[in-house]
Amino acid sequence: MTVRHFLTLLDFSTDELKVLLSRAHALKAMHRRGETHLPLQHKTLAMIFEKASTRTRVSFETGMTQLGGHALFLSPRDSQLGRGEPVADTARVISAMVDAVMIRAHRHDMVETFAAHSRVPVINALTDLHHPCQLLADMQTYEEHRGSIVGRTVAWLGDGNNVCQSYVHAAERFDFTLRIACPEGDAPDSAILAEAGSRVEILRDPRAAVAGADLVVTDVWASMGQEAEQAERNARFTPYQVDARLMALAKPDALFMHCLPAHRGEEVTAEVIDGPQSVVWDEAENRLHAQKALLEFLVTSSHA
Ligand code: CP
Ligand code: NVA
Repeated sequence: MTVRHFLTLLDFSTDELKVLLSRAHALKAMHRRGETHLPLQHKTLAMIFEKASTRTRVSFETGMTQLGGHALFLSPRDSQLGRGEPVADTARVISAMVDAVMIRAHRHDMVETFAAHSRVPVINALTDLHHPCQLLADMQTYEEHRGSIVGRTVAWLGDGNNVCQSYVHAAERFDFTLRIACPEGDAPDSAILAEAGSRVEILRDPRAAVAGADLVVTDVWASMGQEAEQAERNARFTPYQVDARLMALAKPDALFMHCLPAHRGEEVTAEVIDGPQSVVWDEAENRLHAQKALLEFLVTSSHA
């Protein structure tokens, strides 16, 4: 049996992602009805966090509990990973005991190395390059509020970071147009962009990116690990702040998303993130439902 991993959205086909999202909607409805669903009884998810997290940790840990399983929190500070035990050795050892591994890592190649030596599915819970779990929740949230995203226009404002790069993959898999407005030098990786082809456009002008968009998305200007550059980055990204005037250029029924945590007054004004077009709380909650669908898919089925 081949072990499937979820390191980027491209690890799954469009059809598989569609199945996953429809399962996420179903699991959310079941949870709302108070139904018990325990397909992961006696299964364990190891969660390795090299960086801080609120949503990712709570959603994966709660998700495993709701599915009847157990989640195990590991940080490099308290495990031998932080004392230099090789990633490949750690992967062999942990994957011999648990049923899936979730990793939030500084470097994407750490997650790739782990997956290459793991007997069980590995899930990328954010690296310097990608945040695919966030995109599952974002796509679920868009569908929930507006239906299919196929053929829609999404505007990304600000840093072409890990979440933005997963948006590039999402444009490819879910077939929408992505307009990224960012300063020169802050665009996503050119190889990642090249794969997505003409669906993704890089612009300097935030107004042009947002004009007529169905969804407006942003993220912090300094990601975890870039705190020392905060002041300099704030100055560079100021023209890309999502405020009410910018939102007014999008479609009247456009949604606003942000993976959170947010810095009000920097990448987005309080008026927008706390306003009627913002769906950030549903987006955060959907991390739970989308990742339950992902865990169920990876742990209970055998995929050729
Ligand atoms: N959006 C997101 O991944 O949040 P956390 O950093 O709190 O996990
Ligand atoms: N781009 C942000 C996302 C946090 C969920 C970061 O990497 O810190």
